[in-house]
Amino acid sequence: LRKIVIAIDGYSACGKSSTAKEVAAILGYRYIDSGAMYRAVTYYFQEHHISLTNPKEITKALEQIHISFKVNQKNGTDTFLNGLSVEKEIRKMRVSEMVSQVSTIKDVRTAMVDQQRRMGRERGIIMDGRDIGTVVFPTAELKLFMQAEMNVRAFRRQQELLERGQLVDLDDVIENIRQRDEIDTTRAESPLRKAEDAIEVDTTYVSFDEQVDEVVRLALSKI
Ligand code: C5P
Repeated sequence: LRKIVIAIDGYSACGKSSTAKEVAAILGYRYIDSGAMYRAVTYYFQEHHISLTNPKEITKALEQIHISFKVNQKNGTDTFLNGLSVEKEIRKMRVSEMVSQVSTIKDVRTAMVDQQRRMGRERGIIMDGRDIGTVVFPTAELKLFMQAEMNVRAFRRQQELLERGQLVDLDDVIENIRQRDEIDTTRAESPLRKAEDAIEVDTTYVSFDEQVDEVVRLALSKI
């Protein structure tokens, strides 16, 4: 079987990551959460009080940032920033509220895209994000564009946060998703948009298992 690259893009909290993770496990592929990388950069900027309007400071900070992933005992993936796990920190609202702003910065994107492309060299990967099918891997064999209705997205994200021990008001979740979608779709640098050859997947009325089956079926048709 040949190894392909699967690119999943879409709006915030549509189920990209959970689907991609499961599909990767079934296919024996490597899953890469590109959003976690932007979140790790954001966390670093916050911890080091990096000014988003100071290009020199940003360039220097990016040189200090090393991001990696490690599979954990629960079969999930933990994100590491300079050797330390930041998995818990990067999922907090404090990071969610700033990550889209950080992700508009050209130098940040260039650094992340370079690393993402290096990770994809061996193929047999599934990566999710906002610009994977359009910018990072424009020649990916399978591209998906995910969407779902806001109430479903917000509810699922609220549950996910709760499972991580964070109680967040549904209105705050909705507001954060809206804001990120707005910034992600309107920014100048590689805005979120559907690649011409991407297949649209709406997860509103679909169970998680059905969703995973559908993506696996599409992947197998390309292999
Ligand atoms: O995927 P996740 O929702 O964790 O991503 C967090 C944020 O990172 C997005 O809202 C977006 O601003 C940014 N992002 C991006 N490009 C990607 C992945 C994420 O700009 N490929």
